[in-house]
Amino acid sequence: MAITTSYRTRSDAVPLRSFKAKGRPSAIAGVGVHAPEKVITNLDLEKMMDTSDKWITERTGIRRRHIAEPGTTTFELATGAARSALKAAGIAAKDLDMILVGTSSPDGPFPSVACRVQNELDAPGAVAWDTLAACTSFVYALSIADSFIATERADTVLVVGAEVLSRMLDYSDRGTAVIFGDGAGAAVVRAAPKGAGFLSWCLGSDGRGYAQVTCGNIEKGAYAAKDAQPFIDMVGPDVFKFAVDIFIRQATEVCQTAGVALDDIDLWVPHQANFRIIDAAARRIGLSMERVAVNIDEYGNTSSASIPLALEEAVRKGRVKSGDHVLLAGFGSGLTWGATLMKWA
Ligand code: ACO
Repeated sequence: MAITTSYRTRSDAVPLRSFKAKGRPSAIAGVGVHAPEKVITNLDLEKMMDTSDKWITERTGIRRRHIAEPGTTTFELATGAARSALKAAGIAAKDLDMILVGTSSPDGPFPSVACRVQNELDAPGAVAWDTLAACTSFVYALSIADSFIATERADTVLVVGAEVLSRMLDYSDRGTAVIFGDGAGAAVVRAAPKGAGFLSWCLGSDGRGYAQVTCGNIEKGAYAAKDAQPFIDMVGPDVFKFAVDIFIRQATEVCQTAGVALDDIDLWVPHQANFRIIDAAARRIGLSMERVAVNIDEYGNTSSASIPLALEEAVRKGRVKSGDHVLLAGFGSGLTWGATLMKWA
């Protein structure tokens, strides 16, 4: 059971921090993904626990999720996505200045997943580290990439979101086991012409909500102990309300900060946690689903990998063209949240 707190879940409990991108502009130059081949459908889950395809589809929008075979590492998925993003961007690994991996499911406390990706890619010129902000990790890592490029301390940064969440799932808990999946997505971020790329950011955390989504016996510091139960646990309905609210507030903030009308968003790529969360927020923002990237039906919630997995699919399907306003937005355990508005280069 989740730890109970008196946390007020509505995000209006905190002021939002947003800022315009400054300095040298940066933009996404290529995206790539890597998902495990094995798929578990809702019908498969029906045979494993007291659930139904109907409940999962109607309550979450999830139909399938890709699940890594036992022994598959986060670093392997991250490297696959990284290679495909480098190829899409036409960048050689030796030209990377920085490798950032957003993950909540590293293969161990250390070394970082990013250092192993660096080793595998043979990118000796890069500084590499992991960013941990649960499902917001990818957006936080993108913001670090933008900051380093803006201040001319890096020219080319690889940002990856990669997770093997299935090893953190308790298959006797139908409230979480049906939701999460495994996968990885990556983006190469490079210096861009003026007026293109990241326009604005909204980043935040509210540690008062730390107990809303947890993994491990955090009150006992038992992450690495023999008796630790490294299972995901969450107060689902509370997080749901928080998520809808923070999606709406973030979209409004990044658009206002960039001087772009909400109506001028060409594509919103939200963190894929629950279709009903995305749908409720899109309606309130005034975006029709033609302008929203959704692939939760195929992957479930892949935490830090979900935004790049959805963005890559949108790019591959020709849903993003040069000059489009693209909004990325995430939220997750912490509680954390992050959004950026970009002009696609
Ligand atoms: N199959 C069948 N019934 C189920 C299942 C299931 N898999 N799971 C829950 N139920 C039942 C419950 O037992 C409950 O039954 P009851 O009414 O008899 O008590 C009923 O369905 C309703 O349960 P709720 O938890 O209220 O269901 P809800 O509609 O809120 O959906 C869900 C649950 C999907 C978890 C939703 O709350 C949600 O998506 N929340 C947001 C989660 C999220 O976004 N997390 C992101 C953070 S992840 C990270 O940071 C790593």
